[in-house]
Amino acid sequence: MLIPRNVIEEIAQRNDILEVVGSYVRLQRSGSTFKGLCPFHSEKTPSFTVFPADNSFYCFGCGAGGDVITFIMKAENLDFSAAAEYLANRAGIRIPTGPDTRADSMPRKRVYEINLAAARFFRDNLFDPKTGQAAMRYLTEERGLSMAVIRHFGLGYAPNSFDMLGNYLRGLGYSTEELQKCYLAGISQRTGKPYDLFRNRIIFPIIDTSGNVIAFGGRSMDDTPPKYLNSSDTPGFKKSRNLYALNYARKNCAESMILCEGYMDVIALHAAGFENAVATLGTAITPEQARIMARYTKKVIISYDSDAAGQNAADRAMRLLGEVGLEVRVLKLSGAKDPDEYIKKFGKDRFRLELEGSKSGFEHKFISIIAKYDTETAEGKIKAAGEVCKVIADVGQSVERDVYISYAAERLGLSAESIKNDVERIRRRRAREFRQREGREVVSAAKYFGDKVNPDAAKNVAAAAAEEVILGLLLLYDEYRYAVEEGEIELSESDFFTTFGGRVFSCVMELHKSDEGFSYAALGQYFTADEAGRIQSLIRKRSGLDNNIEILRSAVRTLKEEKAIADAERSGDKFALIRAKREKAKRGQQ
Ligand code: UTP
Ligand code: MN
Repeated sequence: MLIPRNVIEEIAQRNDILEVVGSYVRLQRSGSTFKGLCPFHSEKTPSFTVFPADNSFYCFGCGAGGDVITFIMKAENLDFSAAAEYLANRAGIRIPTGPDTRADSMPRKRVYEINLAAARFFRDNLFDPKTGQAAMRYLTEERGLSMAVIRHFGLGYAPNSFDMLGNYLRGLGYSTEELQKCYLAGISQRTGKPYDLFRNRIIFPIIDTSGNVIAFGGRSMDDTPPKYLNSSDTPGFKKSRNLYALNYARKNCAESMILCEGYMDVIALHAAGFENAVATLGTAITPEQARIMARYTKKVIISYDSDAAGQNAADRAMRLLGEVGLEVRVLKLSGAKDPDEYIKKFGKDRFRLELEGSKSGFEHKFISIIAKYDTETAEGKIKAAGEVCKVIADVGQSVERDVYISYAAERLGLSAESIKNDVERIRRRRAREFRQREGREVVSAAKYFGDKVNPDAAKNVAAAAAEEVILGLLLLYDEYRYAVEEGEIELSESDFFTTFGGRVFSCVMELHKSDEGFSYAALGQYFTADEAGRIQSLIRKRSGLDNNIEILRSAVRTLKEEKAIADAERSGDKFALIRAKREKAKRGQQ
C-alpha cells in the first residue's frame, strides 16, 4: 500500500518517540537525550539513545537507528507500511485508501474557490439558529468568544450530516472528485458514495498571507476522535509551510511573534490584543516554518502547553528557531495548561507580564534543571551544576558560553572559573571521544568487511568515508541540498562509489526537489530497517561537528577522484588511470 507522504509525516510527528520507545525500553534522561538498554542486541551498559529533538533513535552499540516508524519495523518485525499503519491507529490517523486523490492535476485557483465556498457554507451554518445553535453556544459560552472574534477568524460549523456540504458544493458545479482532492469529501468503501469529511465540528479556516482559504481545522463537538481533524496537504496547501493566523500576525510582528500550539490559543491571544500570535497546523514546527517566521520578525516567544509534551516540543522549536537566527524566548506558564486557559483565568495583563518576563532559551533550561534539585544542599548543587555544565558545553560559540557561565555561576553561587573548567573539560572529553571513534572507524577497513548494508564500502575506504561526510551533510542541512540542486556543488548519483550511497543521495535529492521538500520521515519508505539504521548513523556522526561548505566541497573532490581511479581500473584504460592518479596526487600536494 502506498501511503501518501503527508500522512507518513503526520504519523511520525503525532507518535511521540519517547512514548513509543518507552513502552519497550526503560529510558533515562541524559542531558538532552534519553538512554536505555538496546532492545535489538544484548548489552549491559546502555548505548541505545533517543533524540527527542529530532524524533530519532540510534544504538551506538549495534547501529540500529531511525525514526519512530523504523523503531516499530524492527521491534514488531513489520514492513514499512504495516509499521506506519500500526502507528496511525495508535494516534487515530486515518490512512486514505484507494487511488491517490492528491494528484496535483488541479489548479490552485480552483482549490481556493472551492475552499472559499465551503468556508461560507460552514459560517452560514454556524450563524443559522437551526443548525448552528449548539455550536454557537459552545463558542460564546464555553469558550468565551465574542461575535466580533468569531467573525474575524471566519469560524464556522460543519453540520452533523453526511452530505450537506457535498450536495451544496456539487450544486455550485464542483465535482465529487474535486471535493476529494480538497479534503472535503471521502468515498464510502461500503456504499461507494461520497460523504463529508468534516461533520459536527467547529471549523477553523486556515488563510494564507494572500487571503486564500487553504485548508480547515475542525474541532470535534462531541467526543468523537480525533479532537481536531485537519485537511491533509492538498494542491493548494502544505501544512509544513503555513502558520495559523499568519495573515493577521504578519502586520503586528515587527518586534516579536508568539508561537503557540493550538488554534484556540491563537484566537484567545488575538482577542486579548496579542495580535502577533501564530500556531503550527496540527504538527510540530518544521524548518520551513522557522524560516518563514524569520522573514517576518526578529524574536519569537514560544508559548506552548505546560505539560511534558509541550515542553519537549518547545525544546525542538528552540533549536529550529535558533538555527534560522531568530532570538528565541520561552514562556512557561504555571497554573494553566495553555495560553488560552491562562488568559481566561488570570487575564491579559498578567499574560503581558509573563511575556515581558519570558526567558531566553538558556535561562529556561537553567531554571528547569534547578527546579529538579535542592540547591541548598551541597549534593543538590553539585548535581545541578553538573547538568548545567553539560548544557553549556553544547553551545558552539565561546562568547555565548562565557555569558552562560557567568549567569550560572552567579545563580548557583559558584565561581565562574570552576564552572568554566568543568565546561571545557566536558568539551575536551567529547572532542576526544569523537576523534577516537572517528579514528578507529576511518583507518580500519575492517569496519566495512562483511557489511551487509553497504557491501561496496570495503572496496574503497577513502571513497566510502567521503560519501559518509557528503551524505551526513546533505541529510542534516538544507543549505547544502540547495547548493547541490543549484549546481554550486556539482554532484550526481553516478559520482557515488557505493550503490547504497548513490541510492541515499538520489532519494534525498528527489525529496528535496519535491513540492513538500525533504523530510527525514518520508525517507524511511525507501529503505529497510537496517538501511535506516545506517542513515541514522550518518546523521549522528555528522551532527555536533563543524560544518561548512568547504568540508562538503573537499569530500566531493575526494569522492570524484577515487571514483575516477576506480572507473579507469575497471575499464582497463591505462591512460585514464594515469590521468586520474595524477589528478589525485596533484591535490595531495596542495
Ligand atoms: P490541544 O489538544 O492542546 O488543543 O492541541 P487546543 O488547541 O488547546 O484545543 P482546546 O483548547 O482543547 O479546544 C493543540 C493543537 O494540536 C493540534 C491542533 O492544531 C490543536 O490546536 N491537534 C490536536 C491536532 O491536529 N489533532 C488532534 O487530535 C489534537
Ligand atoms: Mn487548549
